[in-house]
Order: sequence, then C-alpha cells, then structure tokens
Amino acid sequence: MNLDNSEQIEEMDPQGMVEDLDTFPDQCREAVSIGEEIRLPFDLEKFDRALVTGMGGSAIVGDLLSRLLDFPVETNRGYHLPKTARPDDLLIAVSYSGNTEETLSALRDGQRRGMRSLCLSTGGKMESYCSRRSVSLVKIPTGHQPRASTGYMLFPLLKLFDEAGLAGTIDFPRLLDEIEGMTDSWNSSVPTERNEPKKLAEAFAGKVPIIYGTKGNTRVVAYRWKTQINENAKQPAFWNVFPELNHNETVGYQLGSELMDNGKVVMLKNGLDLEKNELRMEIMEDIFRDEGIDYGLARAPKGDKFSKVIGQVYFGDYFSVYLALLNEVDPSPVKLIENFKSRLKKKG
Ligand code: F6R
Repeated sequence: MNLDNSEQIEEMDPQGMVEDLDTFPDQCREAVSIGEEIRLPFDLEKFDRALVTGMGGSAIVGDLLSRLLDFPVETNRGYHLPKTARPDDLLIAVSYSGNTEETLSALRDGQRRGMRSLCLSTGGKMESYCSRRSVSLVKIPTGHQPRASTGYMLFPLLKLFDEAGLAGTIDFPRLLDEIEGMTDSWNSSVPTERNEPKKLAEAFAGKVPIIYGTKGNTRVVAYRWKTQINENAKQPAFWNVFPELNHNETVGYQLGSELMDNGKVVMLKNGLDLEKNELRMEIMEDIFRDEGIDYGLARAPKGDKFSKVIGQVYFGDYFSVYLALLNEVDPSPVKLIENFKSRLKKKG
C-alpha cells in the first residue's frame, strides 16, 4: 500500500473516512453555526458543573470539553450517572446515532434525578425521547461514523459555553483557520515526505503503539489516539499517563525489550505540561534508550490551548487512518462492535 497513491486509497476506503478528515474544517465551521442557533430554556451560568454522558466516539466530547473549558465538566461512560450527580449539574447526553443503550439509560437516570438536560444527536431513539419529554435537542448531520463527527459534536457545545462566558476566550475564526492550515499539511494529497501523520504511520506500521499523555493535559489526546487506532486501524494500542505510569508501568520495561518486540512508545508533547512532567518524559527517554525500547515523540501544532489539543487529536485521527491503510484494512466499518452488539441483543 502506497499512501501517496490516491487510487489505492479510494479502493481501500470506499466509505470515505479520508474524505471526512480532509473536510474536517468544513465540518467544524458548520458545527459552529449549529452552536449559534442553540436556544436553551435555562441559563448555563446557573449550573455548578456539566456531566457529559456518552460512549465511545461521542463520549470523547466530554473529555475534550473538560480539557478545554474553564467550567467543570465530567464525563460519564455507562448505564448510570455517578452517585455525585445532582440537580445543580447540567446533564449533556451525547449519542451520534441516538440509539446507544448506555447513554439512553443514563439520560433516563438523570431525568429521574430531576436534572436539566441537553441532548446532542443525529436523531434515533434519543430524538423521540426528547420530543416526548420536552428535552432540548441539538440535531447534527447524519451519514458519518460517530468518531468521524467530533467537529459536529464538539463545536456546537464549545460555542454554547463560549456564548455563556464559560469557555475562557475562544477565537473561533482563528481556530478554524488554524485547523484549515493543519488540513493543508496533513491531507491525503500531501506526499509522505512532507506529511507528518503519514510519516508517523510509516514508523508505526506493524507495531503496537503505546501512547503516553499527561494528567490534566494530553490525557484526552492519548486516549483518543488509542481508540482511533483500535477502531480505524483494527489493531491493539495501549495508553497511559504521567505521572501515574512512573509508579507501575515503567517497571514493565525491565523485560519489555524481550517481550514487546513489536511495541513502540510515543510520548505526546504540546508545551503546556508541568515542568515536573516534562522532566519525567526526559528521564523516560533515557530509560527507553538504556533498556532498548523503541520510542518516539509527537508534538502538537502551534497555537493556543484549543489549537494544540484539537489539532493533536486531528493529527492522531489522520495517523490512525493512514495506519489503517498501511494495514490494508477499510478504516470505516467496526465489524467486531456490530458483532458484539448483536450477541448482546440475542442474550439480553
Ligand atoms: C463508531 C464509534 C463508536 C460509537 C459508540 C457509541 O464510529 O466511534 O465508538 O461512538 O459505539 O455510539 P453513538 O456515538 O452512536 O452513541
């Protein structure tokens, strides 16, 4: 597979995952306009925190909001809300399809607890629930994989919180221009020699990526890279965060070079880390060299917090799709998830 051959790419990617990435800036622009139209029957300023409930590619939106907003946001993944959920919290239920059972169950849990709710979806059962219960719904365009719709799910909420003065300062025009600049550098028509995500994919072909971020900073990016590699490239990938990994996982590298022949570490940097965590990464580089562990570094694009975090997620999305192409798999279908869901339906 040659990443610079557009015919080969089209053949391997009939559902257009690459096209979704190449048009991500348009998706984000459209999503900001969707955000401008949101009218809620309550004031966001009145809430103590937002609880975002969702799964997979929809839940990551909660992690991103938590990283990016000045307002407290927690993400919930599962059938029930945490014990601490209260009516002073705003519940935001996100499900691209609108049919994910865990998310629908957590939404019902929140309604039972008297929480004000906001839903975001393309439709499905979530839309019917919202119209029956008069719950506010932000409707986003259908026709993509949830994980290829991060712009549609994130930007309306960023805009909403920004309008309420709870997002710090987001310069949307600049952010959108910067994202467009990233597409110009990373899109599928840019040859590998000048295309950083393609180069990283070449370096990781045939390897099991182990992705390290940092608590409070690149954690969300590391987790997103891992899940995108799983779903797009159909292969294992692992992740962890500093400083916790220095208290357990680090010891695994004692025998790592014998047992992890195909393992390759990548540490994420964006210039926003605590000095202590920067130092930890430098020391780990020394340990990797001493123990014969293959590793690399991945740096975020330049810009403010929003460009760096969203940009590094976007970079990882490209990386995972290019890795899928090198693995000679179609990045879009998630056969094993569908298989799992149908088994669950039969048994449950
Ligand atoms: C598929 C994907 C999955 C889904 C998850 C929840 O592209 O990313 O992780 O996001 O199965 O489904 P939704 O998002 O429809 O609630």
